[in-house]
Amino acid sequence: MHSRVGTQPQYEVFADEFLDHAQHGLFNAHYDRPACLRLLGDVVGATVLDAACGPGLYAEELAKRGAHVMGFDQSPRMVELAQQRVPTGKFRIHDLANPLDWLDDQSIDVVLFALALEYVDDRIAALDELRRVLRPEGALVLSRQHPTGDWLRHGGNYFEARVIEETWSRGWQVRYWLTPLEQTCEELHKAGFLIERLLEPRPEAEAAEIDQEKYERLNREPTGFLAIRAVPNPHRPLVTG
Ligand SMILES: C[S@@+](CC[C@H](N)C(=O)[O-])C[C@H]1O[C@@H](n2cnc3c(N)ncnc32)[C@H](O)[C@@H]1O
Repeated sequence: MHSRVGTQPQYEVFADEFLDHAQHGLFNAHYDRPACLRLLGDVVGATVLDAACGPGLYAEELAKRGAHVMGFDQSPRMVELAQQRVPTGKFRIHDLANPLDWLDDQSIDVVLFALALEYVDDRIAALDELRRVLRPEGALVLSRQHPTGDWLRHGGNYFEARVIEETWSRGWQVRYWLTPLEQTCEELHKAGFLIERLLEPRPEAEAAEIDQEKYERLNREPTGFLAIRAVPNPHRPLVTG
């Protein structure tokens, strides 16, 4: 039993395999990315911060859509892969456990934070930093594992936040937080965000060609991911200086 995820970059050892898996795979290419890109909307000319950018698959798409992309990840290999993939982007190694002291207050139009909230021990502090760097009219788009799916796999008390370990199909070992939906909403609230939209996405039709059974299951059960668009709460202005 672990009480924290810690700061060891878990994805470092399988970063290249993750790229291979996420580039065209059902869960990332035809389920999570379409949902977050929908919530991101028009990004032409926007400065987008891709937090926990992984191998740069989102960054590539955002750059194609006309965004100026910056990104960071805790895993050095992920940062290398992202930089190779998007040479125009600016990527660096950074752990969300630490303040984003290399970014000015209110300097970012949009923050994307896809499928990584679960790995952060102090999520309120990390979200608070993401809000600090966002312009007041900016937005945060995040996705996370669907808490219902997590609970169905692990059982126990749905409402009890805890760190679990899983071994995924390619043998990847991961440690992350199970938290109820209410907790994610509360963490966003405490970090000074207002939730604008919450999606429980269904996979794109192309997903059926990859895996018909998973496609049907994800159309039926909340066992995949969810995605949220949140904006800085204007009633909680940033205290600067
Ligand atoms: C499931 S992958 C998602 C990658 C990318 N956002 C995507 O959706 O394609 C999770 C990523 O979060 C990164 N990560 C995990 N904990 C982190 C932390 N504390 N700070 C920064 N990045 C972290 C991992 O290294 C990994 O690249």
